[in-house]
Amino acid sequence: MTEREVFDWLKEVRHPGQDDKDIVSLGLVDEVAAEGNKIVVTLSFPRRPDALKNYIVGAVRAAIYRNAPGGTDIEIKTVERKAAPKEPELTLDAVKEVGHIVGVASGKGGVGKSTVAVNLAIALARLGYRVGLADADVYGPSVPIMTGTEDYTPDMIKEGGRDMMVPAEKFGVKWMSIGYFSPPGQALIWRGPMACSALKQMILQVSWGPLDFLLVDMPPGTGDIHISLVSDIPMEGAVIVTTPQQVALADVEKGVNMFRNPNVNRKIFGVVENMAWFTPEAHPEEKYYLFGKDGGSKMARALDIPLLGQIPLVQSIREAGDNGSPLALGTRADAMAFLDLASKLVEEVNKE
Ligand SMILES: Nc1ncnc2c1ncn2[C@@H]1O[C@H](COP(=O)(O)OP(=O)(O)O)[C@@H](O)[C@H]1O
Ligand SMILES: [Mg+2]
Repeated sequence: MTEREVFDWLKEVRHPGQDDKDIVSLGLVDEVAAEGNKIVVTLSFPRRPDALKNYIVGAVRAAIYRNAPGGTDIEIKTVERKAAPKEPELTLDAVKEVGHIVGVASGKGGVGKSTVAVNLAIALARLGYRVGLADADVYGPSVPIMTGTEDYTPDMIKEGGRDMMVPAEKFGVKWMSIGYFSPPGQALIWRGPMACSALKQMILQVSWGPLDFLLVDMPPGTGDIHISLVSDIPMEGAVIVTTPQQVALADVEKGVNMFRNPNVNRKIFGVVENMAWFTPEAHPEEKYYLFGKDGGSKMARALDIPLLGQIPLVQSIREAGDNGSPLALGTRADAMAFLDLASKLVEEVNKE
């Protein structure tokens, strides 16, 4: 008899007062302990009296009785529901030794924001800077796979009396991702305030130590979450990633306006035009402008922001991302593009 089995039996018990949902999904089962021939189930009920409490207790006893081997000793305890665990109080202590916090943003998903963020982090580290990357894209954390750290489970350590998460370290960069907390392949569904506090934790509840740069892979879009995130984090400014397409460029304008909004008021260090052209592996000298030519540079001029760099669309960038060994580690021309991008960013950040 395992605790998991007991949980499965308990799913047979439905709460007639709550749309007949099973008591496990309703969160009424606080704890299950199965040892030898004894099962102890602790049910938690809300403080407000539940008229069906006795019925549920009886139904739980019956469900276990039906499923467990004869002679099993069954004990059902009830407790008052504990108040929801208090959100850890987040302070700026975690980033007090961080030189520059830079957001990597995009108006929409799929433009290569994470690819750019991961490679930029590695490129900065290759230039000799101390770098961390917080994957705050709660809707699609891709940093674990891109860096081959998907098996990493963060330890917690006490720092200044608080529990802090220890980031992964690989390729000379410290990585923290919400993906380290969810089973692989399982989509995370976070909404509104939950998403917001989860992603702030990815930045403020991490033992970063001293860093020159902390990059933040932001969720795509320009909604309330972004405004709240940016206002609560001492983010100096952002890099905006786009593709040359007209639609992507319209989104960039929204992103730029968000950072320039008086309530947010952060710098835009520049735009990165990703997938600027396609270069076939076999013909590295050829350039095909699939999404239009120089859209990024035109837009950068129109919005009065620097074009930090152009990254070609090459098969090896995607492969490297899938394999967990980002291209910026190598010496090919496209790796060099990320190193150029990194030095251009450093230049912009140091400009006053
Ligand atoms: N320059 C590029 N060349 C080839 N593939 C790329 C390039 N940039 C991104 N990709 C691929 O496109 C997909 C989306 O990129 P990703 O960085 O996850 O985008 P986002 O974070 O904006 O959603 C990934 O499969 C990635 O490997
Ligand atoms: Mg991404």
